[in-house]
Amino acid sequence: MTQQFTDHQGRAVVVEEITEDNWRDVADVAPADGQRQFVAALAARYLLLSQRGEVWTSLGVRAGDDIVGHVMWAYDDDHDAHWIGGMVVGAAEQGKGVGRATLGAVIEHLSALSGCRQICLSYHPGNTSAGSLYTSFGFQPTGDLEDDEIVMALLVS
Ligand SMILES: CC(C)(COP(=O)(O)OP(=O)(O)OC[C@H]1O[C@@H](n2cnc3c(N)ncnc32)[C@H](O)[C@@H]1OP(=O)(O)O)[C@@H](O)C(=O)NCCC(=O)NCCS
Repeated sequence: MTQQFTDHQGRAVVVEEITEDNWRDVADVAPADGQRQFVAALAARYLLLSQRGEVWTSLGVRAGDDIVGHVMWAYDDDHDAHWIGGMVVGAAEQGKGVGRATLGAVIEHLSALSGCRQICLSYHPGNTSAGSLYTSFGFQPTGDLEDDEIVMALLVS
């Protein structure tokens, strides 16, 4: 059964494919200025990465009627793991429960893919908001670093 994810205002939060209708709004998603040390300055960078390579798949994050974020995923066959990356909630939408709902929705999305056994992600050690969010979902450090970021993993049952 599909779970409903909502933010603090009760808006339904879903992750959705990039389409002709939503790509402009997803591309415009921007973190707060001080967060550019952790992520790209605009989600457009991640959309291009998804489009140019065959590794990442971008998804838009919708809360109610509005596009409020971006997240992407990839499959790493070396480690038989699915990865989450490029998670950005627009600066004005942060602190409203969107990030928590997004992570729940993308974990559900990946868990439904056949053969998904482990989900990995990484975060900059200084990005304590992201770190505590991931820990609260049960992600645990693997001990590995990826581009100076702490790698965490969650086993999918
Ligand atoms: C990290 C991020 C996605 C969280 O999204 P959000 O919508 O602000 O988060 P939520 O409101 O759902 O809060 C979820 C949790 O994040 C953490 N968090 C959010 N804002 C925080 C803050 N200002 N200080 C400390 N922790 C914070 C808390 O653990 C919070 O837990 P709670 O649900 O018990 O309150 C968002 O801050 C963001 O886009 N940051 C910039 C990009 C980024 O760093 N992405 C992660 C890359 S690894």
